[in-house]
Amino acid sequence: MSLTKAHIESHLRTRALGRALTVLPVADSTNRLAMAAAKDGAPHGTVIVADTQTDGHGQKGRSFFSPAGCGLYVSILWRSPSSSLLPLMTSCTAVAAARAIESVAPVSVQIKWVNDLIIDGRKIAGILTQGEFDPTTGQPAFAVIGIGINVHRVDFPDELKPIAGTVQDACGVAVDRGELLAALLNELETALSEAENRAFLTESRRRSCVIGRPVRVTDSSGTYTADAVDLDENGQLIIERDGARHTLIAGDVQVR
Ligand code: BTN
Repeated sequence: MSLTKAHIESHLRTRALGRALTVLPVADSTNRLAMAAAKDGAPHGTVIVADTQTDGHGQKGRSFFSPAGCGLYVSILWRSPSSSLLPLMTSCTAVAAARAIESVAPVSVQIKWVNDLIIDGRKIAGILTQGEFDPTTGQPAFAVIGIGINVHRVDFPDELKPIAGTVQDACGVAVDRGELLAALLNELETALSEAENRAFLTESRRRSCVIGRPVRVTDSSGTYTADAVDLDENGQLIIERDGARHTLIAGDVQVR
């Protein structure tokens, strides 16, 4: 089944997410389009999804491989997140996306802090949350949550072959992308609405593939080894290095 508006809407149970829905055959980056739409006054819950991206953005200026017909490349506009919700959004989205994938495919999804979803040791999805603050109030004006999921089997470029995978590789099922998108929006609306009670963090910890493991951390101070210990109340990673505990707010973590 192709990625069509009517098909996605037929599976949608949300109040706001996806009720303004744009389905594109091609976008440069759905995050870029959603950021522009947000500045143009698009409503809360606006969703932009594309069959392929020519300039998909990943974390830290990396690109996100977005071939046609194989993946889900989607951006969701969340207006006026409170300043307490903002730091939780990426971790909470990771949990919602893991639940959505498991609802349509017989797989177990893990989370590699903070924005990667992993099946059988391979990255099958990434999350990029962007946003803007209102310059007059200093409060968050909006967030755009971008999610890329490798759904159907694909020939990855050489540099991704050792690390990337697809949902189909993991379970043999060619999941319907429209159904998966609707499941994602259904899960995400509930999860973000309840995120501030922090109950989802228990599931984040359970799904984590780094907690309790020795890791290699790359952050603004360089690359070093540590042990991943826990998540704090904002979903930040607590690491132990040379006997002292630190909280990582941003950075890249690889299991050693
Ligand atoms: C990462 O793994 O570093 C984050 C990847 C985020 C990719 C998604 S695909 C939809 C949305 N549009 C983009 O340009 N990026 C995000």
